[in-house]
Amino acid sequence: MICCGIESTAHTISIAIVSDDGGKCNILANEKHSVVTEEGGLIPRELREHHQEHAVPVLKNALEKAKVKMEDIDLISFSIGPGIGPALETGAVVARTLALKYNKPLLGVNHCVGHVELGKALTDCTDPIVVYVSGANTQIIGYEKGKYRVYGETLDIGVGNLLDGFGRKMSLGFPAGPVLDKMYFEGKKYVELPYTVKGMDLAFSGLQTAAVLKIGKVKEEDLAYSLLHNAFAMVAEVAERALAHTEKKEILLTGGVAASKALREMLGKMCEDRGAKLFVPEFQACLDNGLLPAWLGIVMYKAGNRMTVEESQVDQRQRTDSVEVNWV
Ligand SMILES: [Fe+2]
Repeated sequence: MICCGIESTAHTISIAIVSDDGGKCNILANEKHSVVTEEGGLIPRELREHHQEHAVPVLKNALEKAKVKMEDIDLISFSIGPGIGPALETGAVVARTLALKYNKPLLGVNHCVGHVELGKALTDCTDPIVVYVSGANTQIIGYEKGKYRVYGETLDIGVGNLLDGFGRKMSLGFPAGPVLDKMYFEGKKYVELPYTVKGMDLAFSGLQTAAVLKIGKVKEEDLAYSLLHNAFAMVAEVAERALAHTEKKEILLTGGVAASKALREMLGKMCEDRGAKLFVPEFQACLDNGLLPAWLGIVMYKAGNRMTVEESQVDQRQRTDSVEVNWV
């Protein structure tokens, strides 16, 4: 079957066209347009305007690239949550309109579960502990008894927001992650900073505040090294305990922060020590993009999941572990 998936949880409106040839995720097109802000912070009203303006051109590009017409599409899926209300709503309106106009089935799917299933489809892993690290989200996830359980998560900001927020104060531009990552490998001396793991959960805002207060007082590279060292070691600690608890043998790293060489290195070492294996999908697939709802839409539809237009209301706070997983 061929699915058209619409992603609009935050800064990006993206539409992908995917088919499932022989159960494999076959990417026909994956087009997007993103809001980029130097000052930081996303204004919901501006996201709505941006996504409204770019939805149709992005769709046209996707159809053209995939060499299909709307009539050839078998399913329209979209990210129903979690995310920023006006951004989500714009994608949902586009999805409903297409489903009604072309008389196609409609399915709203969870964004975080989309990261998990797409990551599994694009790598060889089968039953991983998922380290999902992005601007807004930081979750350690694993499948257990009919749900994707959240073993640990951030209690305040996502690790990506930690890096971007700190990077703004250092005037590193956006996104700050790649610059900080380079500095991490140049830093030599550890600067004392908070390390906050509470049970299996994480908190990053205290670390951010403490690091910002040290700007100008220590060498920039040492500060970047120490910030990334603590943030990523916190993530690796919780991921390791999730592996130990579940006896799983795979880590799947996804989300925008998956680009970090420092984080990959740290998780790679941890996996090596435990006899586990680290999987990272191709970077564009780690970011927010239409492949997430497109592939999860196919997987869920084939497992018998259906949704009416009336049921397709977005849910800004929809949790990973609220989704009944009837396809694993
Ligand atoms: Fe995401």
